[in-house]
Amino acid sequence: MHRRDLLRLLGLSTLAGAAGCSPASSASDVLGLTPRDAGAWAQAPDVDLVLTAAPGEVALLPGEPTRVWRFTGERLSGPADTLTALPDSYLGPVIRLRRGQRVRIRFVNQLAEDSIVHWHGLDVPEHADGHPRLAVGAGRDYVYEFTVTNRAGTYWYHPHPHMRTGAQVYHGLAGLLLVSDPDEDALGLPSGGRELLCVLQDRLVDSRNQLLYQGTMMEMMNGVLGDRLLVSGQVQPTRDVDAAWHRVRLLNGSNARIYKIAWSHDLPMIVIGSDGGLLERPLVQPTLTLAPGQRADLLVDLTAFAAGTDVRLESVAYPAEAAGGVGMMGGGMGRMGGMGETAALPQGAAARLMTLRVGATRGDAWAVPARLPSFDATWAPQPAAPVRRVPLRFQRMQWLLGDRTFAMEDVAADETVRAGSTHIWEFINMPNGMGMEAAHPIHIHGRQFRVLDRRGSDPANALREGIVDAGWTDTVLVLPGETVRVQVTFTPHPGLYLYHCHILEHEDMGMMRNFRVV
Ligand code: C2O
Ligand code: CU
Ligand code: CU
Repeated sequence: MHRRDLLRLLGLSTLAGAAGCSPASSASDVLGLTPRDAGAWAQAPDVDLVLTAAPGEVALLPGEPTRVWRFTGERLSGPADTLTALPDSYLGPVIRLRRGQRVRIRFVNQLAEDSIVHWHGLDVPEHADGHPRLAVGAGRDYVYEFTVTNRAGTYWYHPHPHMRTGAQVYHGLAGLLLVSDPDEDALGLPSGGRELLCVLQDRLVDSRNQLLYQGTMMEMMNGVLGDRLLVSGQVQPTRDVDAAWHRVRLLNGSNARIYKIAWSHDLPMIVIGSDGGLLERPLVQPTLTLAPGQRADLLVDLTAFAAGTDVRLESVAYPAEAAGGVGMMGGGMGRMGGMGETAALPQGAAARLMTLRVGATRGDAWAVPARLPSFDATWAPQPAAPVRRVPLRFQRMQWLLGDRTFAMEDVAADETVRAGSTHIWEFINMPNGMGMEAAHPIHIHGRQFRVLDRRGSDPANALREGIVDAGWTDTVLVLPGETVRVQVTFTPHPGLYLYHCHILEHEDMGMMRNFRVV
C-alpha cells in the first residue's frame, strides 16, 4: 500500500493535509546527499512512524495551562511497544527500537518556523542526521530512513535547526529513544514498572505558568537556566515504587544545567551505562556528573526500605565556578527573568529532582551482574592515530570551537576524515586570563567514542569526581582548564556531520562546526 493511502486510512491525512504537506521531499535528490542504502529498503521497513512537532498545552503547575511545543507520534507499523506517550508531559513519545531494525520516520513540522529532528547518539546516514541545512519550513515534512546499528542504550531526539535548537528544545521538543538488543536482554535488568525513565530539565516559569526564554546576551553566553526542576516534564515528581531493584535511566535534556546527582540515604550511584549503552562492568561512586546531552543508566536497590520511605534523587550543591561562565567573577549566574518576578536557580545550587515513595510490594533479592556486555575492538587505544588539537575558548564575545564558529556548509581541511578511520581529537579548554572559562559538553555526531584521558584537571573541581569516562560516549564534559583526549572511529557513512557544544545556547551562538566524512 502506498504510504499516502496508509496515512489516509489511519486518519492522518487531515492532519498532514491541514498543514499542507508536500509529498515526501527526497533530500538525496534535492541536496545531492549520498544516496540511501537502496538494498536495505527493498522491503517495507520494520518500523514506520510519523512524528509531528506542533504547539500544544500541558498542565505543568496548578492554574493556567502552559503553552509548549511538543512531539506527538503515530505508529504506522512495527511492534506495539515502539511508541509510548508520556502522560501529562510535554515530552515526545518514548521511541523503543531494536538493533537491526530498519526504521522510517516521517517528521511533520506544524510549528510556525523551520525545524528538523536529530537522533542524538545514533549512527545514521547523512540524510537522516538532522543537519540544520535540511530543516523544513512550517507545514512541510521530512522522511528519515535508517537501520539501527547502535548498541542497546539510552538515546534521544531533539530539533536541530540553525540558531533555534535551544529555543525549540526549551519549549518542549525532545524525547527519549531507547535501543534494546539481545546482549541487554540476557542480563535480565529490572523492567516494566521497575524501569524509571527520567529526563532532567529546568525551566523558568512566569507567574502565568508560561515558559520564559528570553535569549538575552548574558543567557546566550552562559546558557539558559530555569527555576523549576522537571523530571520527564513534571515538576519534582513523586513516584510510587516497589521495594525492589530499579533501573533508572537518566537523560540530561536541559539547555545548560549540569547536575551532580546523588541519592538520599547514602545510596551509592551504581552506574551500568553511559551515552553509548552498557559499560563493561558496573561502577559504584557517590555522585554522578551529568552535563547537557549526556545519559546514564543506574541501578538502585530499594529492597531494604520500609513502606512509606521517601528516597530522593537529588542534584547536590557544587560551586558555580566548577562549571564556569562569563562574568562569573564576584557575580554568580543568578539573574532575573520576567518582570523581575522570577530568578533562575544558579548553576550548582542544590535541588531535589524526584522522590521515590517505597510501597509495600517487595522485590526479590538480586545481584548486579559483575560483567556487562563487552566492547568491540574499536575500544582499544590506537596510539598511532592522528591527533587533532581543538581549543575551546571565548573571544570577542563568542565561544569558539577549534578557533572557528559555525557556517552552514563550511568544513576545514582538518575537519575532513575518512569513513571508518580512527582519530584522536584533543579538546583543550583554554584559560583566557579574564575568568571567562566554562565547562563545555562536546558532542560529536555519528559514532560513539572513547575518552582516553583528562589532563590539567583541577583536582578541587567538584564536578570531577562524578564524571564517568569508562564507557562509550557521544558527549564529553570538558571542565575549565582541562584537556580531554577522545578516540573516535568515525561513522562509515560519508557526508556532512556536526560536532558542537551541547550547552544549547553555545551551540546556537556558533560553538559548532561541520566535519566531512569522505
Ligand atoms: Cu543532541 Cu547535534 O545534538
Ligand atoms: Cu547528536
Ligand atoms: Cu559550551
